[in-house]
Amino acid sequence: MKNQPAFDRKKILDSVLEKPAVRKKRLEIIEKISNQLKGIRKNEKLDFEIFLGGSYAKGTDIKGSDGDIFMLFPEEFDAFEILKVLRKNFPEGIEEYSDHPYLTLPQDSFSVDIVPGYKASTGRDLRTAVDRTPFHVKFVKENFTEEMKNEVRILKQFLKGIGAYGSESSVQGFSGYVAELLIHHYKTFDEVVSKARGWKIPSVLSQGTKVFDAANLVMVDPVDSGRNAAANVSAENLATFILASNLFSWEKWRDFFYPPKQDFCLPREAVVVFMPCRKCNEEVLVPNLRRISSVLKSELENLDFRVVYSSVFVQNGGYIVIIPESNRMGEAQLHIGPPVTSPNIEPFLKKWKNGTKYGPPFVIGDRVCVLREREEREISESIAKIIPRVKLSKDFDPNKILVISGPDLGSVPEVIAKRFLFPSLGKWTKNQSGDIQ
Ligand code: UTP
Ligand code: MN
Repeated sequence: MKNQPAFDRKKILDSVLEKPAVRKKRLEIIEKISNQLKGIRKNEKLDFEIFLGGSYAKGTDIKGSDGDIFMLFPEEFDAFEILKVLRKNFPEGIEEYSDHPYLTLPQDSFSVDIVPGYKASTGRDLRTAVDRTPFHVKFVKENFTEEMKNEVRILKQFLKGIGAYGSESSVQGFSGYVAELLIHHYKTFDEVVSKARGWKIPSVLSQGTKVFDAANLVMVDPVDSGRNAAANVSAENLATFILASNLFSWEKWRDFFYPPKQDFCLPREAVVVFMPCRKCNEEVLVPNLRRISSVLKSELENLDFRVVYSSVFVQNGGYIVIIPESNRMGEAQLHIGPPVTSPNIEPFLKKWKNGTKYGPPFVIGDRVCVLREREEREISESIAKIIPRVKLSKDFDPNKILVISGPDLGSVPEVIAKRFLFPSLGKWTKNQSGDIQ
């Protein structure tokens, strides 16, 4: 990390920063929308403060950052009612959900989120991530130099490039705020990467008022010491970051910051479960899909199917991709009975006294077994039987679930078939052996 050629950093920064004219235009759009909100406040007789938050307010925005406008209510408020009002006034808006529902306004290659929240008066009076936002903005404005903000920008693009950026459930990566805290802690991108080389999983980078023992990464939120700002970082994203930090070199920076697209190919035995949803709310559906997928995996394994890999997506519906070792099982199944010394041997022998079509009971080691005919041989049939027994989010329509396999796999949307393995490592993993240039 010593004697870095200075031009590399400048090149990265130039590539990450939005052009001043574009940035100015974006800030004007944010301003225009907040003025519209002032009108709504008046017409609808609502009481809220308009707060410009997120990376544009903090000065840590990069190309691709969204605008974040918060409506902060002094009292309890009904977020769903507020969303109705917003939808009426911004018909082009798309309703989304994280902690609270919010509205996304798509703009020209840019989007602005309008997020209702509760206006907390002190850092202690916080209820949700939204309520913390004004404190985060204040913290960054007060504690970051312009150089540090640029270091945040470089780190954010690095995290994006390696696929570990974003705290949404579908990613479970590093949020913009965690990137900011890392720079606050270590001051420069170089230092973050250099320290991350030695991180373990889990890693505790700062102590708070609580012990966060379930987390892979602990970075206590300086504005709320009872909260781990990095609580959502998955082991895989942390591991990816550690690996990328170990492999990073300034000479090959493009491979890390802007990796080329990679080829994916679903194996022939893949099975994809498609679950149409009435309200496709990613933050609600992704955790539910993960749970369904883990039930499927364990029930399939009880039936002797081995699941090699599985992943979940929300893309106009829920998708669970399952890669089994084999999608078909042979007709004979080994059924292992009790040891010969067990008292249960008697009922077992009684049950199987006539043997099966393959023959009488036999002994393996000290246990009595039979070879019997397997009932469930096709994985997609087994999946179709298991799903109705799993508790589904009410957003899914249980009558419209499709189990896609074999030649029908061609109907799986390309965005899923082309990124079913994640977090995927980039071209940068190949730099070491030098086999790709
Ligand atoms: P954003 O996800 O838009 O982050 O959340 P950002 O800092 O503006 O980064 P980019 O540049 O758009 O990617 C907006 C704000 O919401 C809060 C933070 O205060 C953040 O600045 N937030 C968001 C959290 O506290 N935790 C989260 O997981 C996500
Ligand atoms: Mn933002």
